[in-house]
Amino acid sequence: MKNIHVNTGAAYDVKIGHSILSESGKLIRSISKASKAAVITDSNVFGLYADKLTSSLEKSGFECCVFSFKAGEESKSLSNLSEIYSFLIKNEITRSDIVIALGGGVVGDITGFAAATYLRGVDYVQIPTTFLSQIDSSVGGKTAVNIPDGKNLVGAFKQPKLVICDIETLSTLSEDIFSDGAAEAIKYGVIRDKALLDMITEDVHKNLDEIIYRCIDIKRAVVENDEFDTGERMILNFGHTIGHAIEKHSKHKISHGKAVAMGMVMMTRACVNDGISQPQTLNDIISACNVLSLKTEYDCDINELIPYILSDKKRASNTINIIASDVTGNAVIVKKDVHTLSDFLSCVSDKQDK
Ligand code: GLY
Repeated sequence: MKNIHVNTGAAYDVKIGHSILSESGKLIRSISKASKAAVITDSNVFGLYADKLTSSLEKSGFECCVFSFKAGEESKSLSNLSEIYSFLIKNEITRSDIVIALGGGVVGDITGFAAATYLRGVDYVQIPTTFLSQIDSSVGGKTAVNIPDGKNLVGAFKQPKLVICDIETLSTLSEDIFSDGAAEAIKYGVIRDKALLDMITEDVHKNLDEIIYRCIDIKRAVVENDEFDTGERMILNFGHTIGHAIEKHSKHKISHGKAVAMGMVMMTRACVNDGISQPQTLNDIISACNVLSLKTEYDCDINELIPYILSDKKRASNTINIIASDVTGNAVIVKKDVHTLSDFLSCVSDKQDK
């Protein structure tokens, strides 16, 4: 089992290995004296892993209760959050107990936010079971729910007490869900680690253990430097400015990872045109996306995306922070006046290259 220690305000470990779900009782006992463990999961994961987790927890002396909600982004809602609070109250979960998120990003984000706010804060553990949540959302303490006005608009920073990444759980993912995570892995390579990008492009499945370790370690380093997202942490949003706009414009028919893949390519094309990025970086991203069957184009007029781009959290008054990669393996933050955005992005379609 590998370990990455995350040295944030409240420090914690990320345990990475194969079939370590069955050791979670012991691992969680090493960081918690709780008598009760409340497991929050969803309808996809419940049947696959909930029993394995609760039997391991019971062996380590935890009394368990499990809440499972309907899988899907719609469940990252205030109404589901309220159901989770009621479940915790009904099961008499106190501040000395522990809450455990077992599942992908939706489960991790809403459970983390419930833990941040229930009784003004209880300890929680992340057990991510998708590629995306293992390398991104389970580490770094961003928790949130969606409101009708937008995604993740209500949230809190609350670091988990422990993260357990059982790589074996990825074997039950469809190729489609797996490739959503692969897009985020490509992002880490482009912003910080060219060798990682090469590994992904060569064979993501063969190199999976090393890829997961490297991605989490990059996230660790960035989050340690900027826990509350006021500077460097913004580089983790490479591809997300256009990506989020595509998600919204497509009414969420295009999933997060796939939209981020398009966003990375489209933004880099604009940056090459503007002299910010080298053409080779664009080629590197496109090659990685092609290998993973991730589309690199979104078929719409860029002007239709601009209103969504302008509602991005990285906008401040009349400027927007553009996250770019000048050379593969390095990220830069470039400020753009919102009035020049349309011109800057006018070349993002590949029709220009043909
Ligand atoms: N997923 C981006 C961040 O954690 O900052």
